[in-house]
Amino acid sequence: MKYSAEIERRRSFAIISHPDAGKTTLTEKFLLFGGAIQVAGAVKSNKIKKHATSDFMEIERQRGISVATSVMSFEYQNTLINLLDTPGHKDFAEDTYRTLTAVDSVILVVDSVNGVEDQTRRLMEVCRMRDTPVIVFINKMDRDGKNRFDLLEEIEKELKIQLHPMTWPINSGKDFKGVYNIDAQSLLLFSPNTKADADGLTITDLSDILLDEKLGDRDAAQLREDVELVEGVHGKLNVATYLEGKVAPVFFGSAINNFGVKEMLDTFIQIAPFPQARVTTTRRVDAQEDKFSGFVFKIHANLDPKHRDRIAFLRVCSGKFERNKYYHHVRLDKDVRFSNPYSFLAREKSVIEDAYSGDVVGLFDTGNFKIGDTLTVGEDFYFTGIPSFSPEIFKEVVNKDPMKTKQLEKGLLQLTDEGVAQLFTQFGGTKKIIGCVGELQFEVIQYRLLHEYGASVTFNNMPFYKACWLTSEQPIKLEEFMRFRQGNIAADKDGQPVYLAQSEWFLNTEITNQPDVQFHFTSEIQQ
Ligand code: G4P
Repeated sequence: MKYSAEIERRRSFAIISHPDAGKTTLTEKFLLFGGAIQVAGAVKSNKIKKHATSDFMEIERQRGISVATSVMSFEYQNTLINLLDTPGHKDFAEDTYRTLTAVDSVILVVDSVNGVEDQTRRLMEVCRMRDTPVIVFINKMDRDGKNRFDLLEEIEKELKIQLHPMTWPINSGKDFKGVYNIDAQSLLLFSPNTKADADGLTITDLSDILLDEKLGDRDAAQLREDVELVEGVHGKLNVATYLEGKVAPVFFGSAINNFGVKEMLDTFIQIAPFPQARVTTTRRVDAQEDKFSGFVFKIHANLDPKHRDRIAFLRVCSGKFERNKYYHHVRLDKDVRFSNPYSFLAREKSVIEDAYSGDVVGLFDTGNFKIGDTLTVGEDFYFTGIPSFSPEIFKEVVNKDPMKTKQLEKGLLQLTDEGVAQLFTQFGGTKKIIGCVGELQFEVIQYRLLHEYGASVTFNNMPFYKACWLTSEQPIKLEEFMRFRQGNIAADKDGQPVYLAQSEWFLNTEITNQPDVQFHFTSEIQQ
């Protein structure tokens, strides 16, 4: 427990949202609070621009820039905050899902005008799988949004999480007057671009006529009524239920105006979990153990074709990581050391000497790592709960140059190790099928196979919409099913059997007809 003090002052989290809800803007405000950047607009340039969606090289270039902001570390009130960036582009959703395995909590941004959107739903599913504690920020209150009660109900219902309002808004859009901080009993009046240190007006008793003076009779009366209702329903926040991922505290505000952000950040550092114990294949590893351990949750390729260098992002899960020290690479069963491990401070990348549980370290990699790889000081185990999700688009790989078959196989293996795509091999055959979340990845794969491995490919569309991993208590039943549905069966990269479904209808029919076979929508990454 030598490092307890260091570990307990760390908070590692991600901000997640549907694109355009305000994640980048909120990130920037946090960095301003932490003093990690000085001017607004500094983070903006890393955002994948909307018009670039058809140009993957441009997107990769921008993603390359964003490697530097993959983890933004800053100090706020003696707390060391590691903010892990997640790509907003939906074609890179898998990257985001995996990043969520490396954080201890999340802040979910919801646009008050649009409410719950597609990406919001999916991201929350991933959070729920791991019971990740969630704080919700309802953004863009300066715009005419949905009725706040309706919005809360929609979020609760759609995201299947109980909400606990911490602040309460007074109107929205052009009538937006501010928020009342229920717990701190203070009124924060809205003004665009609130100063970082702006404090609210303390109003401990809501019947105080100061409220009428500040808000006008009608809005003051409405606020009293609303707060009474909210307090009656929710009472005081039970932090334990938040930490169990069952209740999400909610804040209202406007990120672009830096309004309501400080209230959330202050609560965040008080209640968000510091690095916690994690489950491995052999035992629970306590974050405060002296012995180092960590796992790779993301790999980012360097797009320079002359160098196949990649950066592997390692989440430290216990103890202390030190530069130039030998660590045990469990899957390869060999000792490795790193002379230039990186940490990230806003846009600066710098070599670090050490890192503690909760931190993320960037390691230069020439092909030794794949997602899920574990480093320890000698023990053999893997961290569990790093999922693979079903791809949504499937294409057969057609090798255009048989002389380059070896290069193609190597390229496919390495790219899938990076988590760019998933690779399946047709059951009883050799047909290779690539599954991705977005069309963009196929372009990335085609380009990289050619430029990095010299392998030229095209793709044939396959009529599948989902991959389900199959298990059964009765191996014979599983085998029978696999033979019966041969055209729909493939093996994933680790040899696990997968059912490729043409449509939801087919899938549901099989699920009903095959009670002895279990269909899983995610799979644990195998080593
Ligand atoms: P994202 O990372 O989640 O995709 O969203 P981002 O922060 O880039 O915000 C998306 C758009 O919403 C941006 O406008 C941003 O300025 C705006 N926005 C963020 N917070 C608020 C808010 O509280 N109120 C209002 N009214 N707008 C907000 P844009 O026009 O797409 O980009 P830009 O031209 O401002 O850069």
